[in-house]
Amino acid sequence: MRRKIVAGNWKMNKTVDEAVDLVRSLKEKLAQGPVDDVDVVVCPPFVDLVPVRDVIAGSKIGLGAQNMYWEDAGAYTGEISAGMLLSAGCSYVILGHSERRQYFGETNATVNKRLKKAFAAGLTPIMCVGERLEQRQAGITQAVVEIQVREGLADITADQAKQMIIAYEPVWAIGTGVNATPEQAQEVHRFIRELLAKMFGEDTAEAVRIQYGGSVKPDNAAELMSQPDVDGALVGGASLKAESFYEIVRAASQRS
Ligand code: 13P
Repeated sequence: MRRKIVAGNWKMNKTVDEAVDLVRSLKEKLAQGPVDDVDVVVCPPFVDLVPVRDVIAGSKIGLGAQNMYWEDAGAYTGEISAGMLLSAGCSYVILGHSERRQYFGETNATVNKRLKKAFAAGLTPIMCVGERLEQRQAGITQAVVEIQVREGLADITADQAKQMIIAYEPVWAIGTGVNATPEQAQEVHRFIRELLAKMFGEDTAEAVRIQYGGSVKPDNAAELMSQPDVDGALVGGASLKAESFYEIVRAASQRS
């Protein structure tokens, strides 16, 4: 049985003070509810990482970053290294989000470089894949996702792959209020798991957790995460309020 994992991708939201307020409320809510069967992760902007780390110290909330560069150090203005993320308390890093691909020129090849560095550094990568609307309409969703997975995971070993998280985020569902239906999500998640089985073997494929992302809200989360291959959620907008994020965590839990 794979443990569910719900992560909040705050994107470019929350000043330091706002971040501290949000994560304090979240911590209080999580302390009330019986949700200890779910891994909960927050991924704030870089400048919020250390203050958020200090608030969540001693709780079970995990910390992740939204991006990372693959070099260790040097003249790379504006970039951040794996070592810096570790020193700021991160255990996770989101890689290859569609917004990074769309606005910042990331490709499967650069996602792969980042992924290798994350594994080498001991960070757990959350690699995002997903088709754009015109690709779904053209009937090439699986082909697009297959290339993203194969190229993103080039030269990765089965032991590494086993520890990672893949987030299936159809681009047309991100920030639109139009989520994939549970059946649409399950179909692609199943496809990704079968692909992982071909690439790494059945054991690895069964171990990898695949999150769904794209307009996950308290009222659709339970149904999406009840699908057999949907192992959690990567939440954008609804992670910016403690109440709605907490409700999504509760929806992932078998105990609530
Ligand atoms: P929304 O939940 O705002 O649609 O964003 C999803 C997402 O991109 C998470 O990474």
